[in-house]
Amino acid sequence: MTHFTVSDLSVNYRKNPLGIDDLRPRLSWRISAETRGFVQNAYQVQVAYDPDFGAEIVWDSQKVESDRSVHIEYQGPALKSRTRYYFRVRVWDRQGNVSAWSAPAYWETAFLSAGEWQASWIAAPPRSEESGDEPCDYMRTDFTLPDNVVSARVYATSLGLYRLYVNGVPADDTLFGPGWTSYNKRLQYQTYDVTSLLSAGDNALGCIVGNGWYRGYLAWEGKKEHFGKTRALMIQLYMTLSDGSERIIVSDGNWRVSSGPLRMSELYHGETYDARLEMDGWSSPGFADQDWAKAMITNPPESALVAQENEPARIIETIRPIAVVTTPKGETVLDMGQNMVGWVRFTVRAEAGTVVTLQHAEVLDRDGNFYTGNLRSAKQTITYICRGGEAETFEPHLSFQGFRYVKVTGVPQDQLLESFIGCVIHTDLEPTGSFRCSDELVNQLQHNILWGQKGNFLDIPTDCPQRDERLGWTGDAQVFIRTAAFNMNVVPFFEKWLKDLAADQEADGRVPHVIPDVPIAGYGSAAWGDAAVICPWTLYQCYGDIRVLETQYPSMKAWVEYIRAQGDDEFLWNTGFHFGDWLGLDAKENSYIGATPKDLIATVFYAYSTELLAKTAAVLGKNEDAKAYEGLHENIVRAFRKEFVTPNGRVASPTQTAYVLALMFDLLEEQNRPRTAKMLAEHIEENGVHLTTGFVGTPYLCLVLSRFGYTELAYRLVLQKEYPSWLYSVIQGATTIWEHWDGIKQDGSFWSDDMNSYNHYAYGAIGDWLYRVVGGIDLLEPGYKKIRIQPQIGEQFSWAEASLDSVYGTIKVDWSKQDHGAVKMDVLIPANTTAEVVIPANQGDDILENGERLDQMAGLLGMEQTAQTYILLLGSGNYSFTF
Ligand code: BGC
Repeated sequence: MTHFTVSDLSVNYRKNPLGIDDLRPRLSWRISAETRGFVQNAYQVQVAYDPDFGAEIVWDSQKVESDRSVHIEYQGPALKSRTRYYFRVRVWDRQGNVSAWSAPAYWETAFLSAGEWQASWIAAPPRSEESGDEPCDYMRTDFTLPDNVVSARVYATSLGLYRLYVNGVPADDTLFGPGWTSYNKRLQYQTYDVTSLLSAGDNALGCIVGNGWYRGYLAWEGKKEHFGKTRALMIQLYMTLSDGSERIIVSDGNWRVSSGPLRMSELYHGETYDARLEMDGWSSPGFADQDWAKAMITNPPESALVAQENEPARIIETIRPIAVVTTPKGETVLDMGQNMVGWVRFTVRAEAGTVVTLQHAEVLDRDGNFYTGNLRSAKQTITYICRGGEAETFEPHLSFQGFRYVKVTGVPQDQLLESFIGCVIHTDLEPTGSFRCSDELVNQLQHNILWGQKGNFLDIPTDCPQRDERLGWTGDAQVFIRTAAFNMNVVPFFEKWLKDLAADQEADGRVPHVIPDVPIAGYGSAAWGDAAVICPWTLYQCYGDIRVLETQYPSMKAWVEYIRAQGDDEFLWNTGFHFGDWLGLDAKENSYIGATPKDLIATVFYAYSTELLAKTAAVLGKNEDAKAYEGLHENIVRAFRKEFVTPNGRVASPTQTAYVLALMFDLLEEQNRPRTAKMLAEHIEENGVHLTTGFVGTPYLCLVLSRFGYTELAYRLVLQKEYPSWLYSVIQGATTIWEHWDGIKQDGSFWSDDMNSYNHYAYGAIGDWLYRVVGGIDLLEPGYKKIRIQPQIGEQFSWAEASLDSVYGTIKVDWSKQDHGAVKMDVLIPANTTAEVVIPANQGDDILENGERLDQMAGLLGMEQTAQTYILLLGSGNYSFTF
């Protein structure tokens, strides 16, 4: 019996996924070991068509001597389309013991070559509606089946959003297909296992198609049809019969189309649904559709069809309202208790024709009235017209709302609490992190960060989920990605988005401000476009997977070359449009742009992106590029010093953001760094322990303070309760992160309507500092193969605990102060990793592990001592230190 096992097999970060079109899927597993210090010495992967591995083995890696247990690329013969592949793994330890084979896991391929689509694109023929309504399309077809269907898959996509129904029920619980991509270049299709929904005899498929991102209103100018004018659908249903033969049903000119009860659906504006127009059984077999129009065959879009890449969106949780409020104006308002994104599911019993409306908003105004000013033109309104009779339940189909408060009309107050439920919708990302500490306000801050992520990770990373914006702002995504990667596994989510970023780059490498690009937004700002480089690099760091670097390399390089072509000096970026330190508090009156010079910020990001590109080239073995970009980086650093640092080494622009950036990205000469850090600290102290930084400086502020020995000040900044600070909004009752430090001012008034989101994750980037510095979980090698555990224990907290489910398994740190100044620290290090654990203790101090002296300890691989720390190199396992 060996004392280690292999489990948690995954393919491209997903468990048993369907519809994968990756030709070299990446296989990962985790190891549990009973003893400390487990290292994998070798592995073997087998891939087969059957879960017993009894027949043909498709690929046998044989025993491979390697400590890699994540992202092993499939290297067998070319994969076949629409095929299930099982795989299993066993591993060896350093003593030559081998584990049992893991339980099998699988992935199923989608279409792997062009030309497999036999379906036609179909659309509704043009119709003239009486009102200004723009009803959604209902599409359907009937077919009969023999009784020996053993498996069935639907592949479906649309121009616009769609919901698929099979025999009267939703095909599954996923929402917002086909997802948002740069539609004119890349369009995703989804795979559904519908085996259990079909039956012998009559069957039907139905689909609702609405405007969504493709054709609906987007951005703030009231424009629609950004990607195309005509909604359309394409579906291909494959069935395998027990004799091995196949049957196919496709979308074609025999499908029928009609409008129906869903009279309007827009992402920003909500839905209008007239239940009196319901067509019972429309997606079930035998429905009388002779009055429906015949579907029109339309031209296929030019975009490449790709299998769904990220996890789908779903209703992830539901919450009940905490109160019904009657406002001073007499409005009836539900309080969900949480600023959330998704929709409300409600049940009413009323006479036919009763109009129920739900209007959604984030906050009440200072008098307690319902307030929608900050939504700008987004109506976020559900209008439901009752059918009458039985109780009727409704929830939106193809629209989502960002809200805490719901103003309801048409429903008696006493029905509200029990029959209205908040459905929280976001991309179904695996939660991976948790952070808690002894300060409840900071715990609420972490809660708000997490909810900012939930609300803004609905298929793409958005700036905000409520007003007429909800776009994939590159800068916001870039500043938040590291924090996001603690809270959830974000790889497939960002891999997809980064492919769209690359697709939307012009030949000169410019990066649009928002991805997918919505033409009115513009392109090329420093710290926004740099998402092209920073995001892939961050993913590589956090997950150790070079695929994203390989895929994005041309895009990363193109961005740096774009910058190089700007500026009136090859090594400075001092031209073009920039957002600067967006929303910095040192901005001039009436400006959104902080005081730090834009060319300083731009040159910093030029340097940083170039440095990361050079590192990426080195990782990918592109040595010439690596050298060239290292050289370019040196030149930019030199030019930066000449332009933005005085001859005596002082940063010429004395702003917090300028100091932070220069320090964060190592742009100053070594000897000038401590002094600059001191100036930064003084600046903050002189401001009464307040920050003045905006989008660009804030994410790094506390990290820089901690790195240069000012952790104590970083703690005070984070614990600052007065405006501006992270806790100010918490004290004002925020349940998500605000766009402005003073979204609600002390007197209860608001920041101006024109740009005031209460669900904007950018400043939530402080989560990175909480996990890394307070919790002490950091990485020394990509993917946390080598971990650094170094909590910086603040005076103000008596305990903190952080955990992260890394690709290797769970990393955990839990420290608490004991009597007599001692600290207890429990650490969990996953198998097949090592950790450098830094313990703040003076020479001669007692350090015990599980009551024993350190030199007795199993798992200790090495130890170093400095004046104030012990640095232990540890193998995997559970440890409990007191010092
Ligand atoms: C968005 C931001 C974005 C910014 C660009 C705003 O409207 O909401 O978060 O980064 O524009 O400066």
